[in-house]
Amino acid sequence: MQSIQEKIQELKRERGAIIIAHNYQPDEVQAIADFTGDSLELSRKAAELDEEVIVFCGVHFMAETAAILSPEKTILLPDRFAGCPMADMITAEQLRAKKAEHPGAVVISYVNSSAAVKAECDLCCTSSNAMKIVSSVPADKEIIFVPDTHLGHYVQEELGREMIIWDGFCPTHSRIRDVDILREKEDHPNAVVMAHPECPLSIRKLADHLLSTGQMCTYAKESDEKEFIVATEMGLLYRLRNESPDKKFYSVSDRALCPNMKKIDLEKVLWSLEDMQHRITVPKETADKARRSIEAMLELS
Ligand code: 13P
Ligand code: SF4
Repeated sequence: MQSIQEKIQELKRERGAIIIAHNYQPDEVQAIADFTGDSLELSRKAAELDEEVIVFCGVHFMAETAAILSPEKTILLPDRFAGCPMADMITAEQLRAKKAEHPGAVVISYVNSSAAVKAECDLCCTSSNAMKIVSSVPADKEIIFVPDTHLGHYVQEELGREMIIWDGFCPTHSRIRDVDILREKEDHPNAVVMAHPECPLSIRKLADHLLSTGQMCTYAKESDEKEFIVATEMGLLYRLRNESPDKKFYSVSDRALCPNMKKIDLEKVLWSLEDMQHRITVPKETADKARRSIEAMLELS
């Protein structure tokens, strides 16, 4: 009898599909994916793929970004309820009201946002290029940064650049506590702390390096360090351990788990290919506006 992995591979070939997965996906989903990456890597990949069908194992805004960049392709999200609570913390209407308070401000949206919010923006950014994107804005311009307060404040502190920052946050990264890091540091005194910039200030202060998930993988591979305390969603440990098998990685807490990322499993990937569900589309007018801010980001990074 065929295993579920074999069925997925067979159907994937029949459909002319490719499977891409975010670094926070369950291990078995990352294992069958053709490509895994962080938000920026996945946006880039989605834009350059030749396949007509992309099974996007991630959350809704990521599949939406792929649909905006490749409107002619079929983008499938295996669980249509896999959303991102941070992305839902701002609506296009709320952003329009904020823009009206600050006419002339440049609006930058973290990629963790809806297509409708991206359509209201001048530029998008991810955690790996936020510094570069904010730096590209002329010094005399006001900046509205949405929706992540922690990424916004991190960039503001680093660049010494005042911004109007929305108060959204990631519930998963907010569950990481400073005591978790302190305990891991005590248990592993030679380990360096890598934290995601979506973490609150108390965690950022304890980190040796603030990096996107993709940057963490590269740093772990290329640095001479041997042990790493990882302050981000636990799913990343799979890729870190696969890519750097000679090194040691310690997750800070089993609460660092994104329930939305974990909604996808192998059965849903298979059903997604069988039924060609759930197709993610974006209305043309919204997609055309949102695409400008994403392409501006891709060009700058
Ligand atoms: P990156 O993969 O870009 O680091 O982002 C993390 C995240 O929370 C995505 O939802
Ligand atoms: Fe959203 Fe946080 Fe989950 Fe990323 S980890 S998808 S920001 S809730």
